[in-house]
Amino acid sequence: MIGRNDKCWCGSGKKWKKCHFPDQGAIKTQEDLSKLYRKKYGILIKTDEQIEGIRAACRLASKILNATCAMAKEGVTTEDLNQFAHQMHLDHGAVPAPLHYGDPPFPKSICTSLNNVICHGIPDDTPLKNGDILNIDVTAILNGYFGDCSRMVTIGDVDPKSQHVVDVSHECLMRAIAVLKPGIPLMAIGETIESYAESQHCSVVYQFIGHGVGLKFHENPQIFHNRNHDQTPLAPGMIFTIEPMINLGKPDAVIDPHDEWTARTVDGKMSAQWEHTILITDEGHEILTTWKRND
Ligand code: MF3
Ligand code: CO
Ligand code: CO
Repeated sequence: MIGRNDKCWCGSGKKWKKCHFPDQGAIKTQEDLSKLYRKKYGILIKTDEQIEGIRAACRLASKILNATCAMAKEGVTTEDLNQFAHQMHLDHGAVPAPLHYGDPPFPKSICTSLNNVICHGIPDDTPLKNGDILNIDVTAILNGYFGDCSRMVTIGDVDPKSQHVVDVSHECLMRAIAVLKPGIPLMAIGETIESYAESQHCSVVYQFIGHGVGLKFHENPQIFHNRNHDQTPLAPGMIFTIEPMINLGKPDAVIDPHDEWTARTVDGKMSAQWEHTILITDEGHEILTTWKRND
């Protein structure tokens, strides 16, 4: 945790309390902090009770995600995965958040984004085949609380370039999470992700972003995965996703004009994404979605 008398994160050389400290020391209680963040940034700082509920939703989303990923083998269709995940939500008293979400309403219970699909792929009767890379994205609503996460799976023997973008996107996510603690500005996330992606000759999708989550599917703040100037300081009780979409080629996404959801790379090259929901704590951060890369 950055202290009031520590040097400000912005590099001004001034003490944090005299520089970017939120509201110059007027914050004495948790209520003051919540009020300030709601007014100034539109961010809902979560209470301990809400955090417990969101933690449970995140744990369940991760469990459904892991089980669905384990089913993804050659010959299985993305609709098979959707039906499996849908049933698992119901079995655990949860609701799949994607189903009927948005406008036009998303038609399925999970997103399955294959190869050159960046995100929001719609499950269908396409069988998985050797060499595919697939993102599965699960958002569960449990007792009114939301948990959002996604992972990549590789099918059989994947070519080295596809494997590279799978690895780079995971590393982008984990490096960005590692910098999170109170006082750090949101822009540190995009800086970390884009500089690592560039060093690996990959690009960062700018048309889709991470988001606050927990009481609703998509809340403030917006989490940019590219370099940006968002100076909003992280504060304990903030919950948001980081979900970098990393491309082998150009960063641009094109949305399918027929289904109005599927986002593909403009050049047909591969794309990969991993997503966690993260809580900012007094000491640093806690990853609420419990999946691990090799689950
Ligand atoms: N789960 C996605 C995210 O990470 C959002 C999917 S919206 C849907 O934010 F409608 F396509 F499901
Ligand atoms: Co998300
Ligand atoms: Co998601």
